[in-house]
Amino acid sequence: MAFPDGFGWGAATAAYQVEGGWDADGKGPSVWDTFTHQGGERVFKNQTGDVACGSYTLWEEDLKCIKQLGLTHYRFSLSWSRLLPDGTTGFINQKGVDYYNKIIDDLLENGIKPIVTLFHFDLPQALEDKGGWLSETIIESFDKYAQFCFRTFGDRVKLWITLNEPNMFALMAYDLGRFPPGVPHLGTGGYQAAHNLIKAHARSWHSYDSLFRKEQKGLVSLSFFIAWAEPADPNSASDQEAAKRVMAFHLDLFAKPIFTDGDYPEGVKSQIAAMSTKQGYASSRLPEFTEEEKKMIKGTGDFFAVQYYTTCLARLKENKKGELGALYDAEVEISTDPSWVNLDWVYVVPWGIRKILKYVKETYNNPAIYITENGFPHSDLTSLDDTQRWEYFRQIFQELLKGIQLDEVNLKVYCAWSLLDNFEWTQGYSSRFGFFHVDFEDPARPRVPYSSAKEYAKVIRNNGLEGQK
Ligand code: BGC
Repeated sequence: MAFPDGFGWGAATAAYQVEGGWDADGKGPSVWDTFTHQGGERVFKNQTGDVACGSYTLWEEDLKCIKQLGLTHYRFSLSWSRLLPDGTTGFINQKGVDYYNKIIDDLLENGIKPIVTLFHFDLPQALEDKGGWLSETIIESFDKYAQFCFRTFGDRVKLWITLNEPNMFALMAYDLGRFPPGVPHLGTGGYQAAHNLIKAHARSWHSYDSLFRKEQKGLVSLSFFIAWAEPADPNSASDQEAAKRVMAFHLDLFAKPIFTDGDYPEGVKSQIAAMSTKQGYASSRLPEFTEEEKKMIKGTGDFFAVQYYTTCLARLKENKKGELGALYDAEVEISTDPSWVNLDWVYVVPWGIRKILKYVKETYNNPAIYITENGFPHSDLTSLDDTQRWEYFRQIFQELLKGIQLDEVNLKVYCAWSLLDNFEWTQGYSSRFGFFHVDFEDPARPRVPYSSAKEYAKVIRNNGLEGQK
């Protein structure tokens, strides 16, 4: 029941979800500041991350939680507009630099390795005003920001995630418009953003590779949201095709260019092209990479970062009316099994994670895999006893062990989402993913461990499930 020696155990957070201090000490506004301040019930009870867990001033409290768990790794994100208030290196906010320096130094002093995300959904508003991820100019802006971070923190940070879940983000922010800037561009915006996200990631990887790697010796990659897709009927050839399509549209569309050959999957390209023709577009809604871009994009991931929450069932469904939207292009109907327990959108299917690890191993040439997020919300907001939730984690760890031992996947690190209850995007504070409860009514924002925190600490101490039932 033991994990390999040196296995990494972490927990993750993200700047906007925990920091607060939204305009403190010269921080510029991000799109989430704008979006939440506009109200309009797009976020649960119009809640905001203005204060959130207060981690901007309460970092030391977070460190106590991290030490209590005994984490070997802590994953957090940098707020771009805290460092560069207008998104450009024209003005650097030293107070922001100091804040992250302190976090990094404290972690290292305690023997904890930082995993640092450069972009976790909170674009500086000033860059959104210039078109955000829909505009090609973002590639240069992101690369400059990334270089600034490598130069400033890279002497100590050795694990970088450039983009958090670009696949989920492109869909939510620019196709559906449910995340800021809040304007839907059904069927076009998601792909346009994807195109720029992939190029921005690749550019910054090259910057690291040519300017910093030799001296800093770190690794740079990006993390994907991966929901496993299972054929609705495992014996049906058409359902099997449907499940493959879901993986291709949601994961491979982003991962194949970066980890394989610089280009989108053929099946996805032809499917979107055909759908676009049917809808009267002169060309495919999915942009094309030039040959030069393909060369630039190919091979720009130093490890494969997986974020797993949920699984779905897939069945083909013709888009007869030619409905517009990235979610309709695959012509697949998604459902779930009635026997699966769910907490909001998270269906508890521990075996999904093993299937994903195997899929990544087989599709992407056995890369080193980091799980940079996995978790479940707590169902009872009134209790610190989350025994039930811990049972899900335990089952996940069993699946990881099967993946390592039976499927021989090269899994290096596991990070749970999340260290703390936090601002859960459009669900505000109504959804609790933390190992530590945070009282958002109390100005002191006390952190109190759920029962699962003790259990996770035990797993980390034993490097496995030893001694557990
Ligand atoms: C995101 C986190 C989020 C979590 C739970 C992931 O998609 O990276 O920011 O809190 O899911 O919803």
